[in-house]
Amino acid sequence: MLTHLKPILEKAQQDNYGLGAFNIVNMETALAIVKAAKDLKAPVIIQVSETTIEYAGLNTIVAIVKTLAEDEANKIPIALHLDHGKSFESVKKCIDAGFSSIHIDVSLLPFKDNIELTKQAVAYAHEHNVLVQGELGILKGVEDKVQTPTEMAPFLTDPDEAKEFVEATGVDTLAVSIGNMHGIEKIRQGNVPDLDLARLEKIHEKIPATPIVLHGASGVNQEQISAAIQRGVRIINIDTELRLAFTEAIKNIFNQDALVYDPRKVLSPAIAAVQKIVAEKIKMFGSKNKA
Ligand code: G3H
Ligand code: 13P
Ligand code: ZN
Repeated sequence: MLTHLKPILEKAQQDNYGLGAFNIVNMETALAIVKAAKDLKAPVIIQVSETTIEYAGLNTIVAIVKTLAEDEANKIPIALHLDHGKSFESVKKCIDAGFSSIHIDVSLLPFKDNIELTKQAVAYAHEHNVLVQGELGILKGVEDKVQTPTEMAPFLTDPDEAKEFVEATGVDTLAVSIGNMHGIEKIRQGNVPDLDLARLEKIHEKIPATPIVLHGASGVNQEQISAAIQRGVRIINIDTELRLAFTEAIKNIFNQDALVYDPRKVLSPAIAAVQKIVAEKIKMFGSKNKA
């Protein structure tokens, strides 16, 4: 069933586990997530980026998620979230379209401007009973050539600023930069950085009631994920590993039979491959049997 993010997030807060926030790009990736959630009786967040909205259409993507949540997921709770909304207009469209949670990511702006724009999104979202994820700190990738702790330091979330940001904006959750990175390069180069757990602990101490969101969690190992959950991380974002699984499965099919022409023969193994990764992550985050 389609659920508001609030009850599943509150339960994760209470029982100390992580919720997977999985990105979709189409019906097949959404179906894979719902199948894994149903199999493992796990609450999940399905999230869409602005790029996916541009690709598939906002109303279409909402209809796909709603239909799968009602028909396929049955009683398993599925929440719909906007990932990396970059403007008030973008966030507003998703709130009006029925999302229960949005991410306003203006983390590239100076601190005061980030606060002002985030506050504007919070005002509209809360008026419409929608939760808001804010972001403080900048996520860099291996491709940005920012890797060593010294190179990363200026981009990481400052614990005191996190407290000021949460109090000033009224956000419900906070995405942080603690050495986490988006994208494929960290995986291709076999160079997934360790999280700055000491910094995460300080952030959590400053904002103990605010669930923390870990972006860029593809490739992060069980030990790091469990340590992050112990230090207040409640939502864990996975996109790259799903895209990789999807496209690798398709490549394999064509390698086995170059003449295959039925899209269902190509896409069914891709759905299964994404489902497998989602299932692994659900177990890793501790949300199995929490529906
Ligand atoms: O963190 C960003 C997500 O992986 C979304 O990426 O804009 O290519 O859909 P995208
Ligand atoms: P990955 O690129 O590590 O999958 O991160 C996804 C993400 O943070 C989406 O917001
Ligand atoms: Zn992200």
